[in-house]
Amino acid sequence: MTITTKFTETFGVEHPVVQGGMQWVGRAELVAAVANAGALGFITALTQPTPADLAKEIAKCRELTDKPFGVNLTILPTINPPPYDEYRQVIVDSGIKIVETAGSNPAPHLPMFHENGIKVLHKCTSVRHAVKAQNLGVDGISIDGFECAGHPGEDDIPGLVLIPAASAKIEIPMIASGGFADGRGLVAALALGADGINMGSRFMCTVESAIHQNVKEAIVAGTELDTELIFRPLRNTARVASNAVSREVVEILNRGGQFEDVKDLVAGKRGVKVYEVGDLDAGIWSVGTAMGLINDIPTCGELVARIVGEAEEIISERLSGMLEDDEEENVA
Ligand SMILES: Cc1cc2nc3c(=O)[nH]c(=O)nc-3n(C[C@H](O)[C@H](O)[C@H](O)COP(=O)(O)O)c2cc1C
Repeated sequence: MTITTKFTETFGVEHPVVQGGMQWVGRAELVAAVANAGALGFITALTQPTPADLAKEIAKCRELTDKPFGVNLTILPTINPPPYDEYRQVIVDSGIKIVETAGSNPAPHLPMFHENGIKVLHKCTSVRHAVKAQNLGVDGISIDGFECAGHPGEDDIPGLVLIPAASAKIEIPMIASGGFADGRGLVAALALGADGINMGSRFMCTVESAIHQNVKEAIVAGTELDTELIFRPLRNTARVASNAVSREVVEILNRGGQFEDVKDLVAGKRGVKVYEVGDLDAGIWSVGTAMGLINDIPTCGELVARIVGEAEEIISERLSGMLEDDEEENVA
């Protein structure tokens, strides 16, 4: 028995489970392990310092798996944007067939991806943006609720409302993101109208995720209360681990500080140190409220098998066991 959905059929993956793009974390080893587990992983393009490095990372991933995997292209509204066109060209030239876009409007990238037979899964945090992306012609939506790690947007609508609200308007395959970590979540997402789940925090805390063991152990020890929302007053909210740095950033901005005042605290080169040397207070690092549901560090293979197995059991036993035969009642 396997769970088959519009998402698994359209994107050609075995299980309706996705590992979304993760800055500094979404590298070849993790993505290949996710692919080998029958789920869909995304290499994070901008984690690679140059487009040439992305080409190498894709080649490395190919050596580790012969299953499909994709690349995440996070489109950031920055003053000095990375060379998106060159990253995009590498994605095309490397023969990648699935791209996860996120951050802002994927329109400038769609024609080239589609001309080259690449399916685009666009991640967004509101029903209006999901509808807009559907109208632009993307191939799938990943709707990211307030629970998520990274950028939850400014609407603060959790998945319980966001997923069914989006599902009412989205006809293309749609997966649910934010706060998912186990089989119960997968069944809930399917019940709410999604065709699968996308997870960041949960995949970050696996054997193959190439980050320091201290970070994984902190996630296991952490609870759903241990995140902060930084950049709220700047309307560029990010959910990150609660630590000395993120709490300081929140305090400075709440006092009326501007980005300039926290720029050094939130610098990427500080954040990456957390993952490399395991100093949990070295900088900002992303994790979501799903931390409260993460209690171990499995391999990706164990994790995906567990999630799918648990989901199948819930559907076929727990839920179907709740259905009573009305006719028998009438007879009695
Ligand atoms: C460490 C980390 C880094 C992330 N970086 C990115 C990123 O660069 N681009 C992106 O689209 N999403 C990024 N995300 C968001 C994830 O792809 C995913 O949408 C999110 O983690 C889902 O919420 P969850 O953590 O509750 O599963 C990141 C998440 C984490 C945990």
